[in-house]
Amino acid sequence: MTRSLPHIAFIGAGNMGGAIVSGLVGGEQHAAGIRATTRTAASARALGAHGIDAKALEADPNANLWAVAEADMIVLGVKPYQILEVLTEIAGRAKAGATIVSVAGGITIASMEERWPGAVVRCMPNTPSQVGKGVAGVSRGSRVSDDQVADVEALFATVGDVITIDESSLNALSSLSGSGPAYVYFFMERFMDIAHEYGFTPAQARTMVTGTFAGALDLLEATQKDPGQLREEVTSPKGSTYEALRVFEEADIGAIIRKATQAAITRSDEMASE
Ligand SMILES: NC(=O)c1ccc[n+]([C@@H]2O[C@H](COP(=O)([O-])OP(=O)(O)OC[C@H]3O[C@@H](n4cnc5c(N)ncnc54)[C@H](OP(=O)(O)O)[C@@H]3O)[C@@H](O)[C@H]2O)c1
Repeated sequence: MTRSLPHIAFIGAGNMGGAIVSGLVGGEQHAAGIRATTRTAASARALGAHGIDAKALEADPNANLWAVAEADMIVLGVKPYQILEVLTEIAGRAKAGATIVSVAGGITIASMEERWPGAVVRCMPNTPSQVGKGVAGVSRGSRVSDDQVADVEALFATVGDVITIDESSLNALSSLSGSGPAYVYFFMERFMDIAHEYGFTPAQARTMVTGTFAGALDLLEATQKDPGQLREEVTSPKGSTYEALRVFEEADIGAIIRKATQAAITRSDEMASE
């Protein structure tokens, strides 16, 4: 989806905001202008080295007001507890027609719409956005036009796939794709531990486990087959893989995954009401 994007301000460009601004600068989308802010001068300098017009609050306490002055879209990449205070800071100073785009977990559209009279969009990206392979959920507020949503979708498409859903499903998406990279690394760690127990060196364990995860994904992508079909291709009846999968089934790993997902959703719901 190639669109000509409006002037965008990134308030807070750390892990997540920084990934999105880098994806935008390095990609094919054209934005009318980009400004970014950080807390420290060192972070702003790092963005500047990538050709991004960035200022630090440390050097200029009005940096956020400078960033939003011309912006039609304002991406809030600060920590969740800072979102409402930044909205208060920029309200009345940013363009009234600007779209607020928050990537913060737990801060609802309703709470942002109380502080911001215009359009609000809430997004839930994940860390693979840093390498252009993210998955982002996008939920529209009550005052957003289709064009404004399309701009936000185009922005997140610069760093991966975009799924537009109702906010009521955003915590479920967050517990799957938002937290998902942590689950994948958790399983990788467990398999590496086992590889060490069987005498492999840390380097060999890393090669076996990362190579297997990456290779399995590439095969899935290349063949466009279902994961179940590819699993069956590895699993001869009564063979060794069959025995290993039987152990997973007996432990009811599906029920464990369901319980873990629900625990993340429940915690997200709690954080939204704290
Ligand atoms: N990391 C994830 O997996 C993930 C996933 C989905 C959503 N998110 C959301 O992304 C948001 C940021 O998380 P993160 O992991 O990217 O944190 P982070 O790396 O600490 O980034 C925060 C950024 O905000 C800057 N900052 C702090 N106070 C500021 C202020 N008052 N005005 C402007 N900039 C300010 C920081 O500057 P300095 O660098 O100078 O300190 C930094 O650039 C959070 O709301 C989080 O919920 C994160």
